[in-house]
Amino acid sequence: MELNETFKVKIDSYDINGYGVCHIDKKIVFVEGAMEGETVIIKITDIHSKFCFSKTIKILEKSEHRIESLCPYSKYCGGCDLLHMDYETECKIKENRVRQTLRKFKYQENPIIKNDNLYGYRNKIMVPFRKDEEGDVIYGFYEKMTHNVISMDKCIISNDKSNEILHYIARYLSIFNVSIYDEDKNNGLFKEVMIRNTATNEYMVVLVTTADYDFSNLVKYLNKDFPEIKSIYLNINSKLTNVVLSNEYKLLYGNETITEDILGLKFNVSPASFMQVNHDNCEKLYSEAIKLANLNKDMNVIDAYCGMGSITLNIAKQVKHVYGIEVVDAAIVNANNNKLLNNINNADFICGKCEDEIKKLVSKENIDCIFFDPPRKGCEKSFLDTVISMNIPRIVYISCNIATATRDIEILEKGGYKLESATPVDLFSKTSHVETVCCLSRKNFEK
Ligand SMILES: C[S@@+](CC[C@H](N)C(=O)[O-])C[C@H]1O[C@@H](n2cnc3c(N)ncnc32)[C@H](O)[C@@H]1O
Repeated sequence: MELNETFKVKIDSYDINGYGVCHIDKKIVFVEGAMEGETVIIKITDIHSKFCFSKTIKILEKSEHRIESLCPYSKYCGGCDLLHMDYETECKIKENRVRQTLRKFKYQENPIIKNDNLYGYRNKIMVPFRKDEEGDVIYGFYEKMTHNVISMDKCIISNDKSNEILHYIARYLSIFNVSIYDEDKNNGLFKEVMIRNTATNEYMVVLVTTADYDFSNLVKYLNKDFPEIKSIYLNINSKLTNVVLSNEYKLLYGNETITEDILGLKFNVSPASFMQVNHDNCEKLYSEAIKLANLNKDMNVIDAYCGMGSITLNIAKQVKHVYGIEVVDAAIVNANNNKLLNNINNADFICGKCEDEIKKLVSKENIDCIFFDPPRKGCEKSFLDTVISMNIPRIVYISCNIATATRDIEILEKGGYKLESATPVDLFSKTSHVETVCCLSRKNFEK
Protein backbone atom coordinates (compact mmCIF):
# COMPACT_ATOMS: atom_id res chain seq x y z
CA MET A 1 0.00 0.00 0.00
CA GLU A 2 1.27 3.45 -0.92
CA LEU A 3 0.23 7.02 -0.32
CA ASN A 4 -2.33 8.20 -2.92
CA GLU A 5 -2.91 4.62 -4.09
CA THR A 6 -6.57 3.92 -4.90
CA PHE A 7 -8.63 0.83 -3.99
CA LYS A 8 -12.16 -0.42 -4.53
CA VAL A 9 -13.52 -1.46 -1.10
CA LYS A 10 -16.73 -2.42 0.71
CA ILE A 11 -17.31 -0.56 3.99
CA ASP A 12 -17.92 -2.94 6.95
CA SER A 13 -18.81 -0.53 9.77
CA TYR A 14 -18.17 2.88 11.33
CA ASP A 15 -15.50 4.02 13.76
CA ILE A 16 -16.44 6.20 16.75
CA ASN A 17 -16.06 9.40 14.68
CA GLY A 18 -18.38 8.23 11.88
CA TYR A 19 -15.60 7.31 9.43
CA GLY A 20 -16.29 4.22 7.33
CA VAL A 21 -14.09 1.22 8.23
CA CYS A 22 -12.73 -1.52 5.96
CA HIS A 23 -9.63 -3.75 5.82
CA ILE A 24 -6.85 -3.98 3.23
CA ASP A 25 -3.91 -6.40 3.72
CA LYS A 26 -4.92 -6.87 7.39
CA LYS A 27 -4.65 -3.12 7.96
CA ILE A 28 -7.65 -1.19 9.33
CA VAL A 29 -8.58 1.54 6.87
CA PHE A 30 -10.59 4.57 8.04
CA VAL A 31 -12.50 6.11 5.14
CA GLU A 32 -13.65 9.72 5.28
CA GLY A 33 -17.09 10.30 3.75
CA ALA A 34 -18.00 6.61 3.31
CA MET A 35 -21.00 4.84 4.80
CA GLU A 36 -21.54 1.31 6.12
CA GLY A 37 -22.50 -1.15 3.34
CA GLU A 38 -21.25 1.09 0.52
CA THR A 39 -18.82 0.06 -2.21
CA VAL A 40 -16.47 2.96 -2.88
CA ILE A 41 -13.19 3.90 -4.50
CA ILE A 42 -10.83 5.31 -1.90
CA LYS A 43 -7.50 7.13 -2.00
CA ILE A 44 -4.95 6.49 0.78
CA THR A 45 -4.01 9.74 2.57
CA ASP A 46 -1.96 8.64 5.60
CA ILE A 47 -0.27 5.30 6.44
CA HIS A 48 0.64 3.90 9.89
CA SER A 49 1.88 0.41 10.82
CA LYS A 50 -1.54 -1.08 11.74
CA PHE A 51 -4.01 1.37 10.24
CA CYS A 52 -4.32 4.06 7.62
CA PHE A 53 -6.58 6.93 6.59
CA SER A 54 -8.24 7.45 3.23
CA LYS A 55 -10.78 9.58 1.39
CA THR A 56 -13.82 8.50 -0.65
CA ILE A 57 -13.27 9.55 -4.24
CA LYS A 58 -16.16 7.72 -5.92
CA ILE A 59 -19.28 5.96 -4.62
CA LEU A 60 -20.12 2.83 -6.63
CA GLU A 61 -22.93 1.47 -4.43
CA LYS A 62 -24.72 4.00 -2.27
CA SER A 63 -26.14 3.46 1.24
CA GLU A 64 -29.88 4.07 1.61
CA HIS A 65 -28.95 6.26 4.60
CA ARG A 66 -26.82 8.65 2.50
CA ILE A 67 -28.28 12.13 2.00
CA GLU A 68 -27.17 15.07 -0.13
CA SER A 69 -25.09 17.49 1.98
CA LEU A 70 -26.88 20.84 2.27
CA CYS A 71 -23.56 22.63 2.73
CA PRO A 72 -21.60 23.61 -0.40
CA TYR A 73 -18.37 23.73 1.65
CA SER A 74 -18.50 20.27 3.22
CA LYS A 75 -15.65 18.95 1.06
CA TYR A 76 -13.23 21.54 2.42
CA CYS A 77 -14.47 22.60 5.84
CA GLY A 78 -13.38 20.56 8.86
CA GLY A 79 -16.47 21.61 10.86
CA CYS A 80 -19.42 19.29 10.08
CA ASP A 81 -18.27 15.76 9.31
CA LEU A 82 -21.68 14.00 9.26
CA LEU A 83 -23.56 16.07 6.65
CA HIS A 84 -23.73 13.11 4.25
CA MET A 85 -25.84 10.82 6.44
CA ASP A 86 -29.43 10.75 7.69
CA TYR A 87 -30.17 11.61 11.30
CA GLU A 88 -30.97 8.02 12.30
CA THR A 89 -27.44 6.95 11.30
CA GLU A 90 -25.87 10.01 12.94
CA CYS A 91 -27.57 9.20 16.26
CA LYS A 92 -26.49 5.53 16.07
CA ILE A 93 -22.88 6.64 15.52
CA LYS A 94 -23.02 8.97 18.51
CA GLU A 95 -24.59 6.33 20.77
CA ASN A 96 -21.92 3.89 19.62
CA ARG A 97 -19.16 6.42 20.33
CA VAL A 98 -20.32 6.70 23.96
CA ARG A 99 -20.88 2.93 24.30
CA GLN A 100 -17.47 2.01 22.85
CA THR A 101 -15.59 4.57 24.93
CA LEU A 102 -17.30 3.51 28.18
CA ARG A 103 -17.11 -0.22 27.35
CA LYS A 104 -15.02 -1.17 30.39
CA PHE A 105 -17.84 -0.16 32.77
CA LYS A 106 -21.18 -1.86 33.49
CA TYR A 107 -23.90 0.77 33.44
CA GLN A 108 -27.30 1.59 32.02
CA GLU A 109 -27.02 2.91 28.44
CA ASN A 110 -29.74 5.48 27.85
CA PRO A 111 -30.81 6.39 24.30
CA ILE A 112 -29.51 9.64 22.82
CA ILE A 113 -31.58 12.78 23.44
CA LYS A 114 -32.20 14.06 19.91
CA ASN A 115 -32.06 17.55 18.45
CA ASP A 116 -35.19 18.92 16.76
CA ASN A 117 -33.27 21.52 14.71
CA LEU A 118 -30.41 19.92 12.79
CA TYR A 119 -29.47 23.18 11.04
CA GLY A 120 -29.31 26.79 12.23
CA TYR A 121 -29.02 25.70 15.87
CA ARG A 122 -25.63 27.25 16.77
CA ASN A 123 -25.88 30.43 18.83
CA LYS A 124 -22.19 31.32 18.50
CA ILE A 125 -20.08 31.77 15.41
CA MET A 126 -16.40 32.79 15.22
CA VAL A 127 -15.26 33.65 11.72
CA PRO A 128 -11.84 34.76 10.38
CA PHE A 129 -11.66 37.59 7.80
CA ARG A 130 -8.95 37.77 5.13
CA LYS A 131 -8.30 39.17 1.62
CA ASP A 132 -8.29 36.77 -1.32
CA GLU A 133 -5.81 36.81 -4.22
CA GLU A 134 -7.88 39.46 -6.03
CA GLY A 135 -7.75 41.67 -2.93
CA ASP A 136 -11.45 41.15 -2.05
CA VAL A 137 -12.51 40.89 1.58
CA ILE A 138 -13.58 37.34 2.35
CA TYR A 139 -14.66 35.53 5.51
CA GLY A 140 -15.15 31.87 6.07
CA PHE A 141 -13.66 28.85 7.76
CA TYR A 142 -10.26 27.25 7.90
CA GLU A 143 -9.72 24.57 5.28
CA LYS A 144 -9.22 21.15 6.94
CA MET A 145 -5.79 20.87 8.64
CA THR A 146 -4.61 24.27 7.29
CA HIS A 147 -4.81 27.96 8.07
CA ASN A 148 -6.19 28.85 4.61
CA VAL A 149 -9.48 30.69 4.88
CA ILE A 150 -12.11 29.43 2.43
CA SER A 151 -14.68 32.06 1.54
CA MET A 152 -18.28 31.24 2.50
CA ASP A 153 -21.67 32.93 2.20
CA LYS A 154 -23.43 31.00 4.89
CA CYS A 155 -22.74 28.39 7.59
CA ILE A 156 -25.83 26.18 7.68
CA ILE A 157 -25.56 25.17 11.34
CA SER A 158 -25.48 28.86 12.37
CA ASN A 159 -28.57 31.02 12.33
CA ASP A 160 -29.56 33.15 9.34
CA LYS A 161 -29.30 36.51 11.08
CA SER A 162 -25.67 35.86 12.13
CA ASN A 163 -24.89 34.96 8.51
CA GLU A 164 -26.51 38.25 7.39
CA ILE A 165 -24.51 40.28 9.92
CA LEU A 166 -21.24 38.70 8.73
CA HIS A 167 -22.06 39.56 5.13
CA TYR A 168 -22.91 43.14 6.13
CA ILE A 169 -19.64 43.60 8.05
CA ALA A 170 -17.61 42.23 5.10
CA ARG A 171 -19.29 44.73 2.73
CA TYR A 172 -18.56 47.60 5.12
CA LEU A 173 -14.89 46.63 5.45
CA SER A 174 -14.60 46.40 1.69
CA ILE A 175 -16.40 49.70 0.89
CA PHE A 176 -14.48 51.64 3.56
CA ASN A 177 -11.23 49.93 2.69
CA VAL A 178 -10.47 48.85 6.25
CA SER A 179 -7.11 47.08 6.58
CA ILE A 180 -7.56 43.30 6.80
CA TYR A 181 -5.24 40.98 8.73
CA ASP A 182 -2.69 38.93 6.78
CA GLU A 183 -1.71 35.90 8.83
CA ASP A 184 1.38 35.02 6.74
CA LYS A 185 2.87 38.49 7.15
CA ASN A 186 1.27 39.03 10.57
CA ASN A 187 0.18 42.53 9.60
CA GLY A 188 -3.13 44.32 8.93
CA LEU A 189 -5.97 45.21 11.30
CA PHE A 190 -9.24 43.28 11.05
CA LYS A 191 -8.99 39.62 12.14
CA GLU A 192 -12.26 37.93 13.11
CA VAL A 193 -15.87 38.40 14.13
CA MET A 194 -17.65 36.57 16.93
CA ILE A 195 -21.45 36.67 16.97
CA ARG A 196 -23.52 35.27 19.79
CA ASN A 197 -27.31 35.20 19.96
CA THR A 198 -29.95 34.12 22.43
CA ALA A 199 -33.33 32.42 22.18
CA THR A 200 -34.78 35.79 23.25
CA ASN A 201 -33.43 37.23 19.96
CA GLU A 202 -30.60 39.35 21.34
CA TYR A 203 -27.30 39.52 19.45
CA MET A 204 -23.76 40.36 20.57
CA VAL A 205 -21.06 41.19 18.01
CA VAL A 206 -17.34 41.15 18.85
CA LEU A 207 -14.96 42.65 16.27
CA VAL A 208 -11.44 41.27 16.72
CA THR A 209 -8.56 43.44 15.54
CA THR A 210 -4.81 43.76 16.06
CA ALA A 211 -5.10 47.37 17.28
CA ASP A 212 -7.58 49.99 18.44
CA TYR A 213 -9.67 51.54 15.63
CA ASP A 214 -12.61 53.91 15.23
CA PHE A 215 -15.58 51.71 14.24
CA SER A 216 -18.23 54.33 15.13
CA ASN A 217 -19.62 54.36 11.57
CA LEU A 218 -19.92 50.59 11.36
CA VAL A 219 -21.56 50.57 14.79
CA LYS A 220 -24.04 53.24 13.63
CA TYR A 221 -24.97 51.22 10.51
CA LEU A 222 -25.27 47.93 12.40
CA ASN A 223 -27.41 49.60 15.01
CA LYS A 224 -29.77 51.01 12.36
CA ASP A 225 -30.09 47.86 10.23
CA PHE A 226 -30.00 45.19 12.96
CA PRO A 227 -32.03 46.39 15.96
CA GLU A 228 -31.61 42.95 17.54
CA ILE A 229 -27.89 43.67 18.12
CA LYS A 230 -27.82 44.73 21.76
CA SER A 231 -24.08 44.77 22.35
CA ILE A 232 -20.99 45.46 20.21
CA TYR A 233 -17.43 44.99 21.47
CA LEU A 234 -13.96 45.50 20.09
CA ASN A 235 -11.45 42.85 21.17
CA ILE A 236 -7.84 43.80 20.56
CA ASN A 237 -5.55 40.84 20.01
CA SER A 238 -2.18 41.75 18.50
CA LYS A 239 -0.62 38.34 19.22
CA LEU A 240 0.07 35.75 16.53
CA THR A 241 -1.74 32.94 18.31
CA ASN A 242 -4.48 30.35 17.82
CA VAL A 243 -6.38 31.93 20.72
CA VAL A 244 -8.77 34.31 18.95
CA LEU A 245 -9.95 36.52 21.81
CA SER A 246 -7.59 38.41 24.14
CA ASN A 247 -8.61 39.76 27.54
CA GLU A 248 -8.77 43.31 26.12
CA TYR A 249 -12.44 44.13 25.43
CA LYS A 250 -13.80 47.61 24.69
CA LEU A 251 -17.58 48.09 24.69
CA LEU A 252 -18.47 50.07 21.52
CA TYR A 253 -22.24 50.01 21.79
CA GLY A 254 -25.12 48.89 24.00
CA ASN A 255 -25.15 46.58 26.98
CA GLU A 256 -22.20 44.71 28.49
CA THR A 257 -24.20 41.49 28.31
CA ILE A 258 -27.05 39.90 26.36
CA THR A 259 -29.74 37.92 28.14
CA GLU A 260 -30.62 34.27 27.58
CA ASP A 261 -33.58 32.36 28.97
CA ILE A 262 -32.77 28.83 30.11
CA LEU A 263 -35.57 26.74 31.64
CA GLY A 264 -37.43 29.89 32.65
CA LEU A 265 -34.47 31.67 34.34
CA LYS A 266 -32.70 34.73 32.91
CA PHE A 267 -28.94 34.68 32.29
CA ASN A 268 -26.80 37.68 31.41
CA VAL A 269 -23.79 36.55 29.42
CA SER A 270 -20.55 38.46 28.68
CA PRO A 271 -18.40 37.81 25.60
CA ALA A 272 -15.77 35.92 27.66
CA SER A 273 -18.25 33.66 29.46
CA PHE A 274 -19.05 30.15 28.31
CA MET A 275 -22.57 29.44 27.05
CA GLN A 276 -23.74 26.14 25.52
CA VAL A 277 -23.97 26.59 21.72
CA ASN A 278 -27.34 24.87 21.24
CA HIS A 279 -30.02 26.53 23.36
CA ASP A 280 -32.88 24.05 22.96
CA ASN A 281 -30.81 20.95 23.60
CA CYS A 282 -28.94 22.70 26.40
CA GLU A 283 -32.32 22.85 28.17
CA LYS A 284 -32.81 19.11 27.56
CA LEU A 285 -29.23 18.43 28.76
CA TYR A 286 -29.70 20.36 32.01
CA SER A 287 -33.11 18.75 32.62
CA GLU A 288 -31.62 15.28 32.21
CA ALA A 289 -28.66 16.10 34.51
CA ILE A 290 -30.96 17.51 37.19
CA LYS A 291 -33.36 14.55 36.89
CA LEU A 292 -30.47 12.05 37.32
CA ALA A 293 -29.25 13.89 40.42
CA ASN A 294 -32.50 13.13 42.31
CA LEU A 295 -32.38 16.47 44.09
CA ASN A 296 -34.44 17.49 47.12
CA LYS A 297 -34.82 20.48 49.43
CA ASP A 298 -32.50 19.05 52.14
CA MET A 299 -29.50 18.76 49.82
CA ASN A 300 -26.27 20.78 49.60
CA VAL A 301 -24.80 20.63 46.11
CA ILE A 302 -21.64 21.76 44.27
CA ASP A 303 -21.72 22.78 40.60
CA ALA A 304 -18.06 22.60 39.50
CA TYR A 305 -16.99 24.42 36.28
CA CYS A 306 -20.22 26.46 36.52
CA GLY A 307 -19.62 29.21 33.90
CA MET A 308 -22.27 31.95 34.24
CA GLY A 309 -24.25 29.74 36.68
CA SER A 310 -26.79 28.34 34.24
CA ILE A 311 -26.87 24.86 35.81
CA THR A 312 -26.21 26.19 39.34
CA LEU A 313 -29.27 28.45 39.44
CA ASN A 314 -31.50 25.78 37.93
CA ILE A 315 -30.27 23.40 40.67
CA ALA A 316 -30.91 26.10 43.33
CA LYS A 317 -34.65 25.91 42.69
CA GLN A 318 -34.68 22.33 44.01
CA VAL A 319 -32.11 22.15 46.84
CA LYS A 320 -31.14 23.72 50.20
CA HIS A 321 -27.90 25.29 48.99
CA VAL A 322 -25.64 25.19 45.92
CA TYR A 323 -22.02 26.35 45.42
CA GLY A 324 -20.79 27.17 41.89
CA ILE A 325 -17.05 27.18 41.12
CA GLU A 326 -15.59 28.77 37.98
CA VAL A 327 -12.19 30.11 36.93
CA VAL A 328 -13.23 32.95 34.53
CA ASP A 329 -13.81 36.21 36.46
CA ALA A 330 -16.32 37.61 33.93
CA ALA A 331 -18.41 34.43 34.18
CA ILE A 332 -18.52 34.73 38.00
CA VAL A 333 -19.58 38.39 37.69
CA ASN A 334 -22.38 37.18 35.35
CA ALA A 335 -23.27 34.34 37.78
CA ASN A 336 -23.63 36.73 40.75
CA ASN A 337 -25.76 39.13 38.68
CA ASN A 338 -27.84 36.21 37.41
CA LYS A 339 -28.49 35.14 41.00
CA LEU A 340 -29.93 38.62 41.73
CA LEU A 341 -31.78 38.76 38.40
CA ASN A 342 -33.65 35.58 39.33
CA ASN A 343 -34.16 36.38 43.03
CA ILE A 344 -32.20 33.33 44.13
CA ASN A 345 -30.61 33.44 47.58
CA ASN A 346 -29.42 29.88 48.18
CA ALA A 347 -26.45 29.94 45.77
CA ASP A 348 -22.84 31.07 46.33
CA PHE A 349 -20.31 31.52 43.53
CA ILE A 350 -16.59 31.03 44.04
CA CYS A 351 -14.02 32.31 41.54
CA GLY A 352 -10.96 30.10 41.10
CA LYS A 353 -9.80 26.73 39.85
CA CYS A 354 -12.03 23.84 40.94
CA GLU A 355 -8.98 21.84 42.00
CA ASP A 356 -8.02 24.60 44.48
CA GLU A 357 -11.39 25.94 45.53
CA ILE A 358 -13.10 22.64 46.28
CA LYS A 359 -10.67 22.07 49.16
CA LYS A 360 -12.26 25.05 50.93
CA LEU A 361 -15.64 23.30 50.85
CA VAL A 362 -14.36 20.00 52.30
CA SER A 363 -15.01 20.90 55.92
CA LYS A 364 -17.81 23.40 55.31
CA GLU A 365 -20.81 21.11 55.17
CA ASN A 366 -21.91 17.72 53.99
CA ILE A 367 -22.24 17.79 50.24
CA ASP A 368 -24.94 15.44 48.91
CA CYS A 369 -24.28 15.74 45.20
CA ILE A 370 -21.71 17.30 42.87
CA PHE A 371 -22.10 18.26 39.21
CA PHE A 372 -18.99 18.54 36.99
CA ASP A 373 -19.05 20.10 33.53
CA PRO A 374 -15.33 20.52 32.69
CA PRO A 375 -13.79 21.65 29.38
CA ARG A 376 -12.69 19.05 26.79
CA LYS A 377 -9.51 18.13 28.68
CA GLY A 378 -11.57 16.86 31.63
CA CYS A 379 -10.81 17.25 35.35
CA GLU A 380 -7.48 17.58 37.19
CA LYS A 381 -6.55 14.43 39.11
CA SER A 382 -6.18 16.48 42.33
CA PHE A 383 -9.79 17.68 41.93
CA LEU A 384 -11.05 14.10 41.58
CA ASP A 385 -8.96 12.99 44.60
CA THR A 386 -10.57 15.70 46.73
CA VAL A 387 -14.05 14.73 45.52
CA ILE A 388 -13.34 11.09 46.43
CA SER A 389 -12.12 12.13 49.90
CA MET A 390 -15.35 14.10 50.47
CA ASN A 391 -17.48 10.95 50.33
CA ILE A 392 -20.18 12.69 48.24
CA PRO A 393 -23.01 10.18 47.54
CA ARG A 394 -23.74 11.22 43.93
CA ILE A 395 -21.84 12.71 40.99
CA VAL A 396 -23.39 13.99 37.76
CA TYR A 397 -20.60 14.34 35.19
CA ILE A 398 -21.52 16.33 32.04
CA SER A 399 -18.90 15.97 29.32
CA CYS A 400 -18.32 17.16 25.76
CA ASN A 401 -15.42 14.70 25.43
CA ILE A 402 -16.31 11.16 26.41
CA ALA A 403 -12.63 10.06 26.15
CA THR A 404 -11.45 12.32 28.98
CA ALA A 405 -14.65 11.64 30.94
CA THR A 406 -13.86 7.90 30.71
CA ARG A 407 -10.34 8.51 32.08
CA ASP A 408 -11.85 10.49 34.98
CA ILE A 409 -14.61 7.94 35.65
CA GLU A 410 -11.93 5.25 35.92
CA ILE A 411 -10.26 7.28 38.69
CA LEU A 412 -13.64 7.76 40.40
CA GLU A 413 -14.45 4.03 40.15
CA LYS A 414 -11.08 3.19 41.76
CA GLY A 415 -11.98 5.71 44.48
CA GLY A 416 -15.24 3.93 45.35
CA TYR A 417 -17.80 5.18 42.82
CA LYS A 418 -19.89 3.22 40.35
CA LEU A 419 -21.00 4.51 36.97
CA GLU A 420 -24.79 4.05 37.04
CA SER A 421 -25.92 5.45 33.69
CA ALA A 422 -24.88 7.49 30.66
CA THR A 423 -27.14 9.56 28.43
CA PRO A 424 -25.77 10.96 25.16
CA VAL A 425 -27.27 14.33 24.16
CA ASP A 426 -27.05 15.67 20.62
CA LEU A 427 -25.89 19.25 21.11
CA PHE A 428 -23.78 19.35 17.95
CA SER A 429 -25.86 17.93 15.08
CA LYS A 430 -24.12 17.20 11.77
CA THR A 431 -20.77 16.93 13.59
CA SER A 432 -19.43 13.79 15.28
CA HIS A 433 -19.15 15.56 18.66
CA VAL A 434 -21.50 14.37 21.37
CA GLU A 435 -22.33 15.57 24.88
CA THR A 436 -22.92 12.94 27.59
CA VAL A 437 -24.43 13.03 31.07
CA CYS A 438 -22.93 10.34 33.31
CA CYS A 439 -24.37 9.56 36.71
CA LEU A 440 -22.19 7.95 39.41
CA SER A 441 -22.99 6.89 42.94
CA ARG A 442 -20.80 6.03 45.91
CA LYS A 443 -20.62 2.26 46.50
CA ASN A 444 -21.71 1.13 50.01
CA PHE A 445 -22.32 4.72 50.91
CA GLU A 446 -22.09 5.51 54.65
CA LYS A 447 -22.00 8.87 56.35
C1 LIG B 1 -17.96 23.23 29.38
S1 LIG B 1 -17.99 24.75 30.21
C2 LIG B 1 -19.39 24.53 31.26
C3 LIG B 1 -20.00 25.78 31.81
C4 LIG B 1 -21.40 25.65 32.41
N1 LIG B 1 -21.53 24.49 33.23
C5 LIG B 1 -22.47 25.69 31.34
O1 LIG B 1 -23.15 24.69 31.10
O2 LIG B 1 -22.64 26.74 30.71
C6 LIG B 1 -16.60 24.57 31.25
C7 LIG B 1 -16.34 25.76 32.17
O3 LIG B 1 -15.23 25.43 33.02
C8 LIG B 1 -14.43 26.58 33.21
N2 LIG B 1 -13.12 26.07 33.65
C9 LIG B 1 -12.12 25.56 32.89
N3 LIG B 1 -11.12 25.09 33.69
C10 LIG B 1 -11.51 25.32 34.97
C11 LIG B 1 -10.92 25.05 36.26
N4 LIG B 1 -9.74 24.46 36.36
N5 LIG B 1 -11.61 25.40 37.37
C12 LIG B 1 -12.82 26.03 37.26
N6 LIG B 1 -13.42 26.31 36.08
C13 LIG B 1 -12.79 25.95 34.95
C14 LIG B 1 -14.49 27.28 31.86
O4 LIG B 1 -14.17 28.65 32.00
C15 LIG B 1 -15.96 27.05 31.46
O5 LIG B 1 -16.79 28.09 31.94
